[in-house]
Amino acid sequence: MKLAIEARSLLQAEGDVLVVGGYAEENRLAPAVAALDRALKGLLSEVVRTEKFAGKPEQIAYVHTAGRLPAKRVLLVGLGTRREVDAERVRRAAAAALRRARDLGARIVSTALLGDGLAPKVSAQALAEGALLGAYTFDRYKREKNEKAVDELRVVDPKGRQEAAIKDGLRLGELFAGAACFARDLVNEPANRVTPTHLAKVAVEIARDGRLRLKVYDRADCQKLGMGAYLGVAQGSQEPPKFIHLTYTPRGRGRRKIAIIGKGITFDSGGLDLKTADGMRTMKDDMSGAAAVLAIMRSLPALGLPLEVHGLIAATENMPSGTAQRPGDIVCALNGTTIEIGNTDAEGRLTLADALAYAVKEVKPQEIIDLATLTSAIVVALGNLCSGVMWNDKPLADRLLAAAEAAGERMWPLPLIDEYKELLKSDVADLNNVGPRGGGALTAGIFLREFAGSTPWVHLDIAGTAFTEKDLPLGPKGGTGVGVRTLLTYLMEEARRR
Ligand code: BES
Ligand code: ZN
Ligand code: ZN
Repeated sequence: MKLAIEARSLLQAEGDVLVVGGYAEENRLAPAVAALDRALKGLLSEVVRTEKFAGKPEQIAYVHTAGRLPAKRVLLVGLGTRREVDAERVRRAAAAALRRARDLGARIVSTALLGDGLAPKVSAQALAEGALLGAYTFDRYKREKNEKAVDELRVVDPKGRQEAAIKDGLRLGELFAGAACFARDLVNEPANRVTPTHLAKVAVEIARDGRLRLKVYDRADCQKLGMGAYLGVAQGSQEPPKFIHLTYTPRGRGRRKIAIIGKGITFDSGGLDLKTADGMRTMKDDMSGAAAVLAIMRSLPALGLPLEVHGLIAATENMPSGTAQRPGDIVCALNGTTIEIGNTDAEGRLTLADALAYAVKEVKPQEIIDLATLTSAIVVALGNLCSGVMWNDKPLADRLLAAAEAAGERMWPLPLIDEYKELLKSDVADLNNVGPRGGGALTAGIFLREFAGSTPWVHLDIAGTAFTEKDLPLGPKGGTGVGVRTLLTYLMEEARRR
């Protein structure tokens, strides 16, 4: 979908569909929309009445203009009450409007900026983001593809005075949505395609296209580095493990060094502690953290932020076999910590332990952020619409939570209670990789904290949010690309700090 700006009034806008916003609790159309209604001889207000269009979020009503306007149809999309309008309302309205326009067979869509109170740049970004996220589909493997697609979205700037701000917003929206959809594609691709080797290939392409530094460590390299926790997970699979380290270095000297780590289990069968059939049905999504990290690293050259960003992924499958790790095995992580394997299905924290220890020892960043589909306990706690946030540094977590809010991704803090560390005690090693059932997301977080040491760190548990089994306002069933837009927002804010 091409994005463009047009300096002309709504009355002159062309296209198969012209999108305008409508508010709740207002029985009059906004002035610009009322002008359209007059040109349409009251058709619009009539459809508002007969269809009971009340401006509720994402509600839609439309009319054919029958030659009374250059645009073929006018589509009203609800934004809720004026007081409550924010960027997320605009994203969702744009997504709903674009999907409807697409289903109507529209190729060219014109739209007003949505959300009157918002700055034009914010509004334009939300519009582009929502439109592109909402129109996302994954039909690579289907014979029957959806032939309908919107080719062009034209943002109408009636006074022609906001072009620069709108342009900036559209560019950011396109970049953010493009990154999230890149992550979605990687998650939606099945595990027989997306192997650790495939993730490494994707990293090679990203490094080549964006001139990033890349190191890919194979099994022998990881052995030399002492990544016993990660390799224990990998030893049951026929697929060779790949430890991926991408680096974005800005022109001039980087102000801050940040490491982002993504859990990269390309399929989680549970290992010898095998999952149930139902439990492993969606486990191709266990590399969603890695997908987000790759998507973010891929976007950094275009953003050109003055930050040094390291993307780390300890990619492997978790499979049962004659060579698989056993319950009761003891492994030694890169930082010398020994771990008793209480459950082979708690594999994510083992791979992350070595990635965190590697970051601390080799990268020495000022802060670390990890994204991981880590526990089913987080799904019990927060469901499928909210990710869990844990940390060893409150200011960092606060900044991240603020970025999540701005990006429209729901994230909620959970406490890493010190006393719970006891729950990870082992009789034979420094740590056990599992605790009891209660507080499962917290003990996982506490386990990770041991490997972050004194480096400020935040952990995002995205087990509930990375993959959706029903369509959502901003995208269809499947991978969601969660975390990508939050972290991009966060990094942009970090670049502005101090
Ligand atoms: N990948 C799973 C967590 C998961 C569950 C992700 C549901 C997405 C949806 C993780 O590796 C896992 O299996 N965790 C176990 C840990 C337990 C054995 C301590 C869990 O949470 O059940
Ligand atoms: Zn598991
Ligand atoms: Zn897992």
